[in-house]
Amino acid sequence: MDSVPSLSVTVEIHTAIHRYPVLVGSGLIEQVGGRVCKFGRSEICAIVTEANVAPLFAERVTRSLMAEGFRPIVITIPAGEKSKTLKQAGAICDQMIATGLDRRSFVIGLGGGVIGDVSGFVAAIYYRGIPHIQVPTTLLGMVDSSIGGKTGVNSTDGKNLIGAVHHPSLVINDLDVLKTLPRREFNQGFAEIIKHAIIADAKMFRMLQSWKAGGALALQQLIRRNIAIKSKIVAKDPRDQTGERALLNFGHTIGHAIERAGNYGKFLHGEAVSLGMVAACAISMKKAALPQDQSDAVVDLLRRFKLPTHLPKNFPCKKIFDALKVDKKFEDGKIRFVVTPEIGSAHVTTTVTMADIRQAVKEL
Ligand SMILES: NC(=O)c1ccc[n+]([C@@H]2O[C@H](COP(=O)([O-])OP(=O)(O)OC[C@H]3O[C@@H](n4cnc5c(N)ncnc54)[C@H](O)[C@@H]3O)[C@@H](O)[C@H]2O)c1
Ligand SMILES: [Zn+2]
Repeated sequence: MDSVPSLSVTVEIHTAIHRYPVLVGSGLIEQVGGRVCKFGRSEICAIVTEANVAPLFAERVTRSLMAEGFRPIVITIPAGEKSKTLKQAGAICDQMIATGLDRRSFVIGLGGGVIGDVSGFVAAIYYRGIPHIQVPTTLLGMVDSSIGGKTGVNSTDGKNLIGAVHHPSLVINDLDVLKTLPRREFNQGFAEIIKHAIIADAKMFRMLQSWKAGGALALQQLIRRNIAIKSKIVAKDPRDQTGERALLNFGHTIGHAIERAGNYGKFLHGEAVSLGMVAACAISMKKAALPQDQSDAVVDLLRRFKLPTHLPKNFPCKKIFDALKVDKKFEDGKIRFVVTPEIGSAHVTTTVTMADIRQAVKEL
């Protein structure tokens, strides 16, 4: 991938009470110190990161902070979803207390969505809330998890059941960090990008149909566009109360159940969402008159990014149905399901039955 000019693009995120810039560009990791100056009234700050990411980028972030007079501590936790626990969040807080971080300090989350969620949660509860700066290192982190202020950890029973809404003060997306991201991880970010296109942007969907890998400028624009889509939806429903934000769950009701049925190991989140979107398109044909050729176009596009569109043979569907029952989107036994009547728009319906979902899963 070639480089884009280090001059970054800034997207301003506005919600009713929050406003924060999101930078997208090259060479930004080295500039973290200068960019975060205004958030630290204390010299001591924390970089929360994980075992795969720390050796790649932690030193550069540390150096840039030290150049601005900060004394950062690097807290490295094990990589992966298993680190998203209350116990881990508590251990991070303990280290921050032991090092002397106080209410005037800030936390930088350097890593993918896992780190974004845990470090954001820590920032939300530490001294009842200190500034959080997101430095996402995965494509999924850049286009999805770093935007919107949802932070949290998993309980033993379910994903993301414990959390807080705590918007970051700044998000720094350095495209260069994506060069080390494994291809499968990179592709799963496209599941969320394709989701954004389906629910809100038919033009972007067409652009993705002729997407050529490797162009940094095109990637920069794509990331920027996705941040704008997600933030526009979040701004209408910052605390996930009016239903607008539910649109972001397109493909996720079934996707989450598949992720759980695979014990969070068989499929990456984006891969499970890819399967969930195929099923959601089949349901949309029945319940929202989505034309067959548009559903086919979604499947083709997911395949272009090497995302799964069929369940492996002998995958235990029963486990998926069991997992659906514990989903947060079931209210009073009713399913709030997101359908698309045509690519570029989506709405929530309560007309989808468990039988419709079972049928769509069986067809996967
Ligand atoms: N808060 C939200 O709104 C929101 C939205 C979507 C997803 N999420 C959460 O995000 C998490 C998934 O995020 P993810 O897919 O980024 O997973 P992740 O953070 O586990 O990162 C994926 C893998 O890539 C590695 N990695 C990260 N950056 C790298 C780099 N630059 N080079 C090489 N390897 C790198 C990690 O070590 C890990 O193995 C889930 O926990 C999910 O619940 C949150
Ligand atoms: Zn998702």
